[in-house]
Amino acid sequence: MPVTLNHIAKQGEHGPAMMPIIQGVGRAAVEIAALLRGAVFRGALGAAGAENVQGEQQQKLDVLSDEIFLDEMRSTGDVCAVGSEEQEELLVIEEYANADYLILVDPLDGSSNLDVDGPVGTIFSVVKRKTANTETPLASDTLQSGRDVIAAGYVLYGPATMLVCSVGQGVHGYTWNPASARFELSHADMKIPASGGYYSVNEANAGKWLNQMGDRLQRMKAATGLGMRYVGAMVADMHRTLLKGGIFLYPADEKNTNGKLRLLYEAIPMGFLMEQAGGKAMSDGQPVLDVQPEALHQRVPVYLGSASAVDTLLG
Ligand code: AHG
Ligand code: MN
Ligand code: MN
Repeated sequence: MPVTLNHIAKQGEHGPAMMPIIQGVGRAAVEIAALLRGAVFRGALGAAGAENVQGEQQQKLDVLSDEIFLDEMRSTGDVCAVGSEEQEELLVIEEYANADYLILVDPLDGSSNLDVDGPVGTIFSVVKRKTANTETPLASDTLQSGRDVIAAGYVLYGPATMLVCSVGQGVHGYTWNPASARFELSHADMKIPASGGYYSVNEANAGKWLNQMGDRLQRMKAATGLGMRYVGAMVADMHRTLLKGGIFLYPADEKNTNGKLRLLYEAIPMGFLMEQAGGKAMSDGQPVLDVQPEALHQRVPVYLGSASAVDTLLG
């Protein structure tokens, strides 16, 4: 008998409370996957004509995916607010402003892959509010380190649509089964291989990296002999790293002096999963999960993967 997303409810202290939210993520994933597959026929590819708070050209699909995700989080009744890559400020869900949980989300990760039909994803994490349920949720409710994250995961829109997540009891992968129209457990208790795999980085930036990262990478390549893969969508590069081992990194450089990836809805959820899968998740000088967030869209350098590869790189 296949195991479905209800499997979440049986996992540890937070499983029961997280299941409705993760089921909501699953509903959003199915809607976004359908949106992506038909986008070209709806004129939904290409830029939305506006910049997001990141100073990046929003894609129409970024905006549509954000709307779908917010709507499904609202429908759970358990989420009081959402911090989204595509929204400058925290979005309070007024009718449930007394609910316990906040979601941080990158509704569509790897958007530059969209017009070349490459893999993209959704990344999320869940935190419990610090403010009283009688108060209005505040941005400060989202500024919690990865050590306080209750659940995190991603959806990978690839040849199959996969939902990979953790509620603190290991990492589990669920694949959308079109025959039964539900997510079914396909990768139970994912653990990153201790060795092997690939290094994954945009080496075009090597000449601009700070902190001698170019020399460090050359030494790591010589010491490990790892092959290289780089998709340009964090979800796809991290999914491969989880399954095959190795390291994914986005260092700080002269242009992005804090790195490019966002702490709250890219680095922390992926770092949470990586540690749950027995890997290592570092930023500059400290674990990703120890970084104390100061702003919703704050960026950090990341080095995520097999502990041996991360240690060889960072010394
Ligand atoms: P997003 O599409 O949500 O802005 O994220 C893109 C990120 C991440 O997915 C990926 O790892 C990285 O940008 C790729 O950056 P480069 O194109 O600079 O390599
Ligand atoms: Mn992203
Ligand atoms: Mn995005």
